[in-house]
Amino acid sequence: MKARERTTLAVDIWRGGVHGRLQRYDVPRSGSQTVLDVVTHIQRRLDPTLAYRYACRVGMCGSCAMTVNGVARWTCRTHVDKVAVDGGLELRPLANLPVIRDLVCDMGEFFDKWAAAGGRFESRRTRRDAVMRVAPDSPARRAVDAAIECIGCAVCYASCDIVTARPDYLGPAALNRAWTLVNDVRDGAPRARLAAVAGDAGCHACHTQAGCTERCPKGLAPTASIAGLKRAATRALLRGEL
Ligand code: SF4
Ligand code: SF4
Ligand code: FES
Repeated sequence: MKARERTTLAVDIWRGGVHGRLQRYDVPRSGSQTVLDVVTHIQRRLDPTLAYRYACRVGMCGSCAMTVNGVARWTCRTHVDKVAVDGGLELRPLANLPVIRDLVCDMGEFFDKWAAAGGRFESRRTRRDAVMRVAPDSPARRAVDAAIECIGCAVCYASCDIVTARPDYLGPAALNRAWTLVNDVRDGAPRARLAAVAGDAGCHACHTQAGCTERCPKGLAPTASIAGLKRAATRALLRGEL
């Protein structure tokens, strides 16, 4: 029997911290049901002690990501019909991040790495200067557009086996952000940013197998951004700028 024909869904959810266990819940099926709908039903109707995160429910805030049947996904825009296996779901917290409880991870190190990669815009102008305009159809603006729509969901980070192998690796999201700013003609710290990402745990640690790009729910390509950083960092090194 296909998952869509069942009236209930068997859902195994990780409960506890690092040393937790899976707990089974039976959830009624409904039309266009998302994985986040399932988790919300459990927390509101079956077990109010279940911890999970979400905010927008429309793919904007980046807070609802979990491991769904072994794959990192945003859950508010993942339909159960597309991911249920044998009429069931197994939900765990994202990989590569410390578990706080149940489906909630500590995102601290993920965002610390954004800061370490120079992920903060450093304006070349002061608040007293006129706003610097970038034409929407200019090559500079298009280069920024290619990577700017990141919602900080950490799906790419959880899918990256280099992050698993070496936890100091800055990871795809932070490097994607750095590349966005390197391409931003209004930014005044491109050299410092390249220096921040050119070290051992930076862009050169990426193996370019594109697990991050395959999984990004926004359709971004961190692998391409990282390749751009590699080229820019190498050029800067050869010019003696790093
Ligand atoms: S391409 Fe690079 S950043 Fe992306 S998953 Fe592979 S190692 Fe990680
Ligand atoms: S690059 Fe994509 S997968 Fe990674 S944090 Fe941003 S939106 Fe999420
Ligand atoms: S709840 Fe905001 S992206 Fe899913």
